[in-house]
Amino acid sequence: MLSKEFRNKSPQERAEEVATLAKLDAEDLARLKTFGGLDESTANRMIENVVGAYPLPLGIADHFKVNGKERLVPMVVEEPSVVAAASHAAKLCLPKGFTASTTQPIMIGQIQLVHVPDFRKAQAAVKKHKGELLETANEKDPVMVSRGGGAVDLESRVIKTSRGDMLILHLLVNVQDAMGANAVNTMCEAISPKIEQITGAKARLRILSNLAVHRTAKAHATWTKEALAESTKGAFNGEAIVEAMLDAYAFAANDAYRACTANKGIFNGMDAVVLATGNDWRAMEAGGHVYAMKTGQYTTLTRYWKTKDGDLTGEIELPMAVGVVGGATRTHPMAKTNLKILGVSSAKELGEILASVGLAQNFAAMRALATTGIQQGHMKLHAANIAVQAGATGDDIDRIAAIMAKEKNVNVKRAKELLDG
Ligand code: MEV
Repeated sequence: MLSKEFRNKSPQERAEEVATLAKLDAEDLARLKTFGGLDESTANRMIENVVGAYPLPLGIADHFKVNGKERLVPMVVEEPSVVAAASHAAKLCLPKGFTASTTQPIMIGQIQLVHVPDFRKAQAAVKKHKGELLETANEKDPVMVSRGGGAVDLESRVIKTSRGDMLILHLLVNVQDAMGANAVNTMCEAISPKIEQITGAKARLRILSNLAVHRTAKAHATWTKEALAESTKGAFNGEAIVEAMLDAYAFAANDAYRACTANKGIFNGMDAVVLATGNDWRAMEAGGHVYAMKTGQYTTLTRYWKTKDGDLTGEIELPMAVGVVGGATRTHPMAKTNLKILGVSSAKELGEILASVGLAQNFAAMRALATTGIQQGHMKLHAANIAVQAGATGDDIDRIAAIMAKEKNVNVKRAKELLDG
């Protein structure tokens, strides 16, 4: 965990503390201190038409204990309060912290077959040749196979469309510690010619599905009514907070408008870690939102209930397509440093932490919304941003922000008055 003084240190001093705790080497520390570490040639190789880099703040969420292990959680995000909210929620469920798990890292690759002459025969042919098709797929990634992964199954189903029925194949691939998109896409393309040959159909799309239903992560935690009461400095009693939060949960569970915002809050936290570790946050969001529809009604990704002791337990479950090898996790220097700060060496560990962060973020938003409202917590940082917009620099930022927050009058005009006065 971070020291009590961490908040009041300068960014450079904070970087040093994190480097000590995470046992970072001098190069990692230098990267933190230079606010980016993405050199021109690396950036130029990552995407096309590169003209520069776009820095975002990297903050460290504290107090996370996942499956008994303390973690410093790097978060890259532009929104104030996200890091503080996650840290606070994590602190409130100590000493136990979060219990989290993941399923096998099985991703789905889809192959779309059109102009299928005979669906029954095509499905039978795919089944008959499955062994050899999986072998062809696996020849494309011997490293993954040598580490115990690779293509493990091939399923088929018929879908009805306005352009006629289609046969959709799902190639299931154990991608181990990778996110897996490249490997899965390559495998799907590799087996398609043979599939066309044995089915007489035409293969159109061959692409990963981001609805990673076989690769999910779960986390749960319990917040005692005493900790909840303490979190409001006694302004609310614990039982009342539990009831209010259960009402908030029931709202999100039964109303898509609310569920959408609750899930947005979950991704505030998860995306920040996904981004910090060089993973694909769009993939994470796409999979999560569709997973939230799995009962047919769009709902929240979390669930809450009251324990027999009257405490509040929360749980989250969602697809978890993240990796610690391949892609930007290995090419972006900051992503590598952030993985060291997290102390993870497997996609499983990363997924467990991510699910915990998602739950923490949702809990924090719900607690604030069900008690004092969300604006109070936002006020200080929001006021500081407004002070900067009004032209404040250095110590003036905090001075003006504190006055505006106290006055509950946060706007650029007032900030300018205070700056000039
Ligand atoms: C704001 O970025 C996120 C929240 O709206 C999430 C929520 O309402 O649960 C506070």
